[in-house]
Amino acid sequence: MKSSSFVAIDDINKQEMLDLLERARYFEEHPNSKILDGRVVATLFFEPSTRTRLSFETAVNRLGGRVIGFSDASTSSTSKGETLKDTIKMVSNYADIIVMRHFLEGAAQYATEVTDVPIVNAGDGANQHPSQTLLDLYSILKTQGTLEGLTITMVGDLKYGRTVHSLLMALRHFKPVFNFVSCPELRMPEEYIKICRREGIEFHEYTDFSQEVIDSSDIIYMTRVQRERFSDIMEYERVKNLYTLRNAMLATSKPNVKILHPLPRVNEIDRDVDDNPKAYYFEQARNGVFARQAILTRALGIDPLKS
Ligand code: CP
Repeated sequence: MKSSSFVAIDDINKQEMLDLLERARYFEEHPNSKILDGRVVATLFFEPSTRTRLSFETAVNRLGGRVIGFSDASTSSTSKGETLKDTIKMVSNYADIIVMRHFLEGAAQYATEVTDVPIVNAGDGANQHPSQTLLDLYSILKTQGTLEGLTITMVGDLKYGRTVHSLLMALRHFKPVFNFVSCPELRMPEEYIKICRREGIEFHEYTDFSQEVIDSSDIIYMTRVQRERFSDIMEYERVKNLYTLRNAMLATSKPNVKILHPLPRVNEIDRDVDDNPKAYYFEQARNGVFARQAILTRALGIDPLKS
């Protein structure tokens, strides 16, 4: 198998997505092995992270590989003025694959243009977060038994939320109905609305997180309003607490509905939801290890069934 980068969810087609999900399922059953023995994985995080970095590193450790990198770019020579290009070229001398998160949209794509080492995008600004999408798809498949024909409600920051952008791009292959719930300032960007229109995907935009929307959903995907994406802090203060899911709001929801959130959360899911069996966000984060084992082995051209 050829090694390859994973920069955007649209880098892979529907069948490749399903193959990766099958591979994630394999790793959930076999999380520990030595198939990355002798491989070095670099994790370069120019933006903060808990789940993405630690689940990538757990994925590597459980498969017998080694991890190098940084979780705080201020401790790297970036703080001395080294360019992204030079950083990527240097790390390419040391690692077999680079997992990177960067605050600039397009940074991961740019990295692929300056190195032959596979690049995995762990989030680039407000653009995409494809490894999150794979674990989201895996979580949806596990809880719903299918990806086809589901009603997916996305709530909160749909403008800057890279997780919802990637998820929309992936789910468009599976005949979804989308509900987009946001204030006008944070609505789903026009480029994604156009994709829905062009591909004949049913979608509805709401400013009200109504009972009717909640009760029609198979998946409610809550998102955090991201203070770090706002240039005007007053605008952030005005919109940050517009949507909060509370336990009582789930009383008449479908039996199969699951609440997902890429995390971290702030106020958008009340703590009283955590013990509801419909809350799935902590298990969702656990699924990240298996999804990332699938991504890393595919990017390195390693077939777990033949190793
Ligand atoms: N979901 C996610 O990207 O979380 P972190 O920012 O903690 O990595």
